[in-house]
Amino acid sequence: MLATVFSDMQPTLLDKEEIDITNAQSVRDVLMPLQPDVIINAAAYTNVDGAEEHKEDAFLVNETGVKNLGDIANMLGATLVHFSTDYVFPGTQAEGYSEADSPGPAVNVYGQSKLAGERALKESGCNFYLIRTAWLYGPNGKNFVDTMVELGKTKKHLSVVNDQFGSPTFTKDLSQFVRSLLEESEPFGIYHGVNTGSASWFEFAEMIFTIIPGMQVDVKPVSSAEFSRPAKRPQYSILKHTKGPEFRDWKEALREYLGK
Ligand SMILES: NC(=O)c1ccc[n+]([C@@H]2O[C@H](COP(=O)([O-])OP(=O)(O)OC[C@H]3O[C@@H](n4cnc5c(N)ncnc54)[C@H](OP(=O)(O)O)[C@@H]3O)[C@@H](O)[C@H]2O)c1
Repeated sequence: MLATVFSDMQPTLLDKEEIDITNAQSVRDVLMPLQPDVIINAAAYTNVDGAEEHKEDAFLVNETGVKNLGDIANMLGATLVHFSTDYVFPGTQAEGYSEADSPGPAVNVYGQSKLAGERALKESGCNFYLIRTAWLYGPNGKNFVDTMVELGKTKKHLSVVNDQFGSPTFTKDLSQFVRSLLEESEPFGIYHGVNTGSASWFEFAEMIFTIIPGMQVDVKPVSSAEFSRPAKRPQYSILKHTKGPEFRDWKEALREYLGK
């Protein structure tokens, strides 16, 4: 979606085969000749359960990788846009977290590595937009909405966790947010980039099946304890968006994504 929203500016798109952000030399060799004004880092180690066993890999990408990009941005005088996550917060505040709240301690390795990345970004001294986002869905890539829609085609009953709360967010809205931060020259710093409102995974699933006509799926609310996973999840990872351009309500964004 980032590529689509910025397509008129002909951005240089780089994947892991073209740039390894964990390798400072690779980062320099690729980015120096391009002399970018803006670097947007959407690369990360995002396997939340896998990170429990592969801690070094998670920190290498999410901390060292961010340090390397921060250093080159600093050297080039470029602005670095970097994405972080609701998982940097412990998830104990039912009302959620705003940009002014101090993050940590994170409850799992992925969150710890992303928090280390936030610190590395700040220490690099570059101009940055650090955008914490959450519960993303959109075209391309695996996401909860597509998974529910696929399951809904074959299943009549689904069990979905009802004791974890977050901020479902459409990647189109997030990408437009990034663009407006840059275009409006909003102050550098930390932003929460999420659609307005919050839901549990159960409520999110119910809304998906409410929006899609004819998909008769009985969604049963269950507790996290019934779904044992390697990484602990924060209970309340709602992000409060209080700075920068407005986001629409998550249900309205979801309706657009589902074409309704
Ligand atoms: N998805 C969410 O719900 C969510 C929620 C909160 C925050 N975020 C944050 O949003 C950002 C984007 O997330 P996403 O869901 O789009 O992630 P994603 O689908 O997992 O994509 C991450 C990309 O980074 C690449 N990558 C991994 N290691 C790399 C390296 N050393 N050098 C260069 N590229 C590398 C991956 O390549 P390979 O696939 O080839 O490994 C992959 O293409 C991340 O910072 C994530 O932490 C996401």
